[in-house]
Parts: sequence; C-alpha cells; structure tokens
Amino acid sequence: MTTVTDFTPMLQQVLEEVRPLTLQGKVADYIPELGHVDRNKLGIALYLPDGGVFCAGDAHERFSIQSISKVFTLIMAYRRLGDALWQRVGREPSGTPFNSLIQLETDLGIPRNPFINAGALVVSDILCSQYVNAHLSILEFIRQISGVDDINFNTRVARSEAQHGYRNAAMANFIKSFGNLKAPVDDVLQTYFRQCSIEMSCAELVRAAQLLVHYGTTPDVSETLLTPSEVRRVTSIMLTCGTYDAAGDFAFRIGLPAKSGVGGGILAVVPGRMALCVWSPALDYHGNSLAGGRALELFSARSGFSVF
Ligand code: DON
Repeated sequence: MTTVTDFTPMLQQVLEEVRPLTLQGKVADYIPELGHVDRNKLGIALYLPDGGVFCAGDAHERFSIQSISKVFTLIMAYRRLGDALWQRVGREPSGTPFNSLIQLETDLGIPRNPFINAGALVVSDILCSQYVNAHLSILEFIRQISGVDDINFNTRVARSEAQHGYRNAAMANFIKSFGNLKAPVDDVLQTYFRQCSIEMSCAELVRAAQLLVHYGTTPDVSETLLTPSEVRRVTSIMLTCGTYDAAGDFAFRIGLPAKSGVGGGILAVVPGRMALCVWSPALDYHGNSLAGGRALELFSARSGFSVF
C-alpha cells in the first residue's frame, strides 16, 4: 500500500513564514473595486495526482482571478485554432509590463505572447469569433474543468474595469488598426473584462489546472481537452511569460510554470506532478503577489517540486 504524504503542515508553515509580507506591497486599486480587498487574506492549495487537494489559510475563499483567466482562454483558443493561433499572437517573453503598448507598433499589432494584455485581447477576439457568447462559454469551460458549477463573474469588478480600462481600450483599438482584431472592439473588451472578473478560490483553481497536470485530461470532462504536446506548450509559455517582466526572476527563484493575476493569485503547474495556487492580494512592483511569490519559492525549495 502506498502512503500519501500529508502536505498540509508544510503549506501551513509556509503561510506562517510569508505572512509578514502581506503587510508590504500594494493591493491593486487601478480597478477601484479590487482596491477594497482585505490585504490580510492569505491562502494556498496544492493538487497532487495521487493525493487530492491539500489546503491552508484562506484557500476556500474566492477572489478575482484576473489574468489567471488568460491560461483558460489560451487553452480554449488553442483547442479551436491549433497552431494557426501562433499567426495571431507570439510566444516570446515581452520583458515589458503587462499593460504596455510599446512593442505593438513595431510588431505590427501581433502581441509578443498571450499573457500580456495585448495578447489576451487577441485571444478574447478569437473566442468572440468562435462562440456566440464568448464570455458565457469561458465561464462554462472553467466550471466544467474545475467541476464547480457556481463559479461566476463579479459584475461590479467587470464594470469597474470597463469604466477605468483606458489602456486596454487604447490597446484594442491599436491592434484593430493593424487588422489583428476581427470582432468589434467593444465586444472584445467586454469579454476580456468579464473573464478577468471571474472569482475562484485557490482550491478551485488547482482543480481547474488538473487538465494541465494530467496532460490534457481531467476527471470532470470525458473528452481529451489538449494533447500532451499542447500541454507542454501552454506550460512553457506560463514559465517564460506568465509573470510578465518578472518571469526570468520567477524561473530562477521558483522554477515552476506560473500565471499571476492582479487580484493577488498565482497558479503554478508541473505537468505530471502537481498544481499549486496561492493568494495574497498585495502586489510587488511587477503586479505579482508579493507574499504569494515568496510562498511558492519556499514551497518549491522544501518540497523539491520544480521543472529544473
Ligand atoms: O487588464 C487588466 O488590467 C486586468 N484585468 C488584468 C491584469 C492582470 O491581472 C495582470 N496581472 N498581473
């Protein structure tokens, strides 16, 4: 009989050590609704193929997944377009902040990767062409892969972002001017703002990431969602581009493919081995959770889970 290690004490210990960092950094308030979140929140969840889900702290409390949604929309678009996707968006780290417009002009409207805002807008545009109500299809897909059917949008957050999303609106219009958005700009923006406003807990996010852990299959969906080679491609982009202009530092310190969001969540995955999600709302200079990044670093060092 194989015994499964209980990782809960290690997760609790990691949270205890990073808790002082929750008082540093800045809760995102450029979307005013996000600014109300309590900076003391701190949660972590780990999914292991043979062990199920281990949780500590506020792992069951839902938060705004923001850019973590870009992993799920990338999977959906990749499923629909296959490798033709890479004619619309690159897979090169940008080295620039997530909301930068600078490279778009010289790159003729082809964003460097699907995880910067420009790239995520192109992915949302692809979904607008593929589905009648893209935002509902995104929600449905996330409910399906996580096996949780009451996951939802936060309409206040989506509205707040739409009211203050001047940079995203500028970016979408700019990409449209190069012909790399097909749907009306407003449809693309509304889809993007809504996907970012989806609320999930750490425990739900690691369940949704099972399809990457299991190379494209998941217990809640009967069909194969991605091929193993597509899974490797998605996770390689998480490693090189998932934490924006801090991706090199994340690979160096943590060694896990990861995707962050300005709601303070970071989702990390090692195909075949595990999914890990941490949430702490206060962010560092690059827009990644400060305590969350350190928690991942401590956990990967102690557990030995890493792609390196
Ligand atoms: O586009 C925005 O500003 C947000 N809805 C998403 C940004 C985000 O989460 C980037 N992450 N670090």
